[in-house]
Amino acid sequence: MSGKIEREIENLRELIREHDHKYYVLAEPSISDEEYDKLLKQLEKLEAENPQLITPDSPTQRVGKDLTKNFNPVTHKIPMLSLANTYSEYELLDFDRRVREGIPKAQKIEYVVELKIDGASVSLNYVNGLLKTAATRGDGTVGEEITVNVKTIKSIPLKLKNINSLKDRFKDIEVRGEIYMNIADFEKLNKEREKNGEKLFANPRNSSAGTLKLQDPRIVAKRPLNIFLYSLISTEDKLESQFKNLEILKNLGFRVNPETILCKNIEEVIEACKKLESKRDSLEYEVDGAVIKVNSIDQQNILGSIAKSPRWAVAYKFKAKQAFTYLNKITWQVGRTGAITPVAELEPVFLAGSTISRATLHNYDEIKRKDIREGDKVVIEKGGDVIPKIVSVILSERGPKSKEAKPPTKCPVCNSPIFKPEEEVAYYCENSECSAQIKGRIEHFASRGAMDIEGLGEALINLFVELGYLTTYDQIYDLKNKRAELIKIERLGEKSIDNLLEAIEESKKQPFAKVLFALGIRYVGSGAAKKLADHFMSIDELMKASEEDISKIHEIGPSISKSLIKFFSDKHNLKIVQRLKEHGLNLMSVKKQNMQTQFTGKTFVLTGTLLNFSREEAEEKISNFGGKTTSSVSKNTDYVIAGENAGSKLTKAQALGVKIINENTFVKMLEEAEIK
Ligand code: IVH
Repeated sequence: MSGKIEREIENLRELIREHDHKYYVLAEPSISDEEYDKLLKQLEKLEAENPQLITPDSPTQRVGKDLTKNFNPVTHKIPMLSLANTYSEYELLDFDRRVREGIPKAQKIEYVVELKIDGASVSLNYVNGLLKTAATRGDGTVGEEITVNVKTIKSIPLKLKNINSLKDRFKDIEVRGEIYMNIADFEKLNKEREKNGEKLFANPRNSSAGTLKLQDPRIVAKRPLNIFLYSLISTEDKLESQFKNLEILKNLGFRVNPETILCKNIEEVIEACKKLESKRDSLEYEVDGAVIKVNSIDQQNILGSIAKSPRWAVAYKFKAKQAFTYLNKITWQVGRTGAITPVAELEPVFLAGSTISRATLHNYDEIKRKDIREGDKVVIEKGGDVIPKIVSVILSERGPKSKEAKPPTKCPVCNSPIFKPEEEVAYYCENSECSAQIKGRIEHFASRGAMDIEGLGEALINLFVELGYLTTYDQIYDLKNKRAELIKIERLGEKSIDNLLEAIEESKKQPFAKVLFALGIRYVGSGAAKKLADHFMSIDELMKASEEDISKIHEIGPSISKSLIKFFSDKHNLKIVQRLKEHGLNLMSVKKQNMQTQFTGKTFVLTGTLLNFSREEAEEKISNFGGKTTSSVSKNTDYVIAGENAGSKLTKAQALGVKIINENTFVKMLEEAEIK
């Protein structure tokens, strides 16, 4: 009896998988939506009656109910490399020359030219035909596990097609590709977000990457994510060429971009790049260039990679898209630091997937230099993720109404006096309580790269500041005490306030580096915040440090250290930090709180040249994980890390019997410590 039901369930699953493939991968559905829903309902019913027969690869198991608390680290078996960029035919010819220099003369070299999809890259691992894990690229070595979210994407098979005939070849494979959103879907999503007062995504790429990191897979499932796979890695099977790999990927049921061109030589590659660039505007999704890959996998292996990019592939970046429009007016915007920057209010124009009505003008000097005037016809440009900018003015079309803009004489928002620091081009509003600065600071604090408070976007912040609920960002954490009042605000309501309050509580888990970045200290970007957090491990230690201590850190310059000292000598700021502490935000690195690693309490000596780190970086990493570095080897040394051309210290270590490790082992130890 149960055997029969098992078969029935399995047959239904196979049928649904087949229809998913036809619909989502091939875009050639062969049944109506109603018929499809009927099959799915039938399967759901049978599984509900026989829960013991539910398997993770069943089409009913795409959307999980549990929230993802942490995105666990995943070390990529083979690093996820990035590509060097080229911008001209000349640079492509140069790439070809380097490739030919690396390959024996007699061999022919073919290339594959693919579109460079502008999304978020993922790596999928299939074991015995089933999707096991999905991970983001991360820093290329370690990514984050996003399996639960990736499973919701219907064009990604949970079970490979044709696996029975291929099983022995592909027991354990890794496939990589780009998750993206169609431009039209992205715009629809942003419209909905605007309606709900949520922060808008800047472009389809950010919205895909942001979606993949949502904690609730049910929300991910509703977002229109899609994927193109472009890479197949198998350690068991000898793969021949990139072009054939794309065929194999298709046979396994993956979605592969159809605009791929096999080329016999670099001249054909250049043609192919031009052809793809000319197709750009007719595509439903954003691309930012083409990728050129040596076709033969043997040749790829001969060429290998240098630093973080392969020698066998390169990106050819398409030109930034441009459009003409009119500059209606120049207005002045006040940012969170008080900097007053000019903004071009444009006649709305459609460019590269979105309608543009504003562009940044950077500063008054730039307006002068480019001689930009109100009423001018201008060329605007949008490349990748940057805010649109004005490239030039069409002077021949300048009319008598064109008008020069004057720099402001007082703050355009609060009318306070303004000043211009000597070494800078920008003017500043001197009133730190200026509502534009307040809003800007809070917006930065809540933003995705900082405290990442989902739902607390520009519109809501403006409202809360105007209604007097927020004047400093620490007050975000008091909003929960005002719930009764907040739910009464028109167009907010109970559900959205509860979601917001939950997101606010959730943000308390953000690590110290993100909190430090969120404080909005001038010049402390996310990279600097990470370095400072890794070095000082707690805000108390950072606050104790002198300007000199801070600028000793690798890549932290004097403007950052000066700015930190200034920030922490302001009583108002100290009060805010104290309140954030009381609210339970992480003002200390977790590592410092409770970590034991292979480095804890151990003494290291570095000798020779390391390939992946400068000496300062290596010392910093050792110290972050609780170890210390000394300059000479003694019997108290625990490890000598020997790089290339190691000299007398290595000989001494051998004589004393001190443990010697190479750079690879050091990297492995770091990775293990990182995972803890
Ligand atoms: S190949 C070693 N192919 O571009 C090869 N990448 O900077 C590296 N991308 O992180 C990847 N479309 O996210 C490859 N057809 C394509 C691609 C592609 C988009 C992205 C990918 C990668 C970045 C390379």
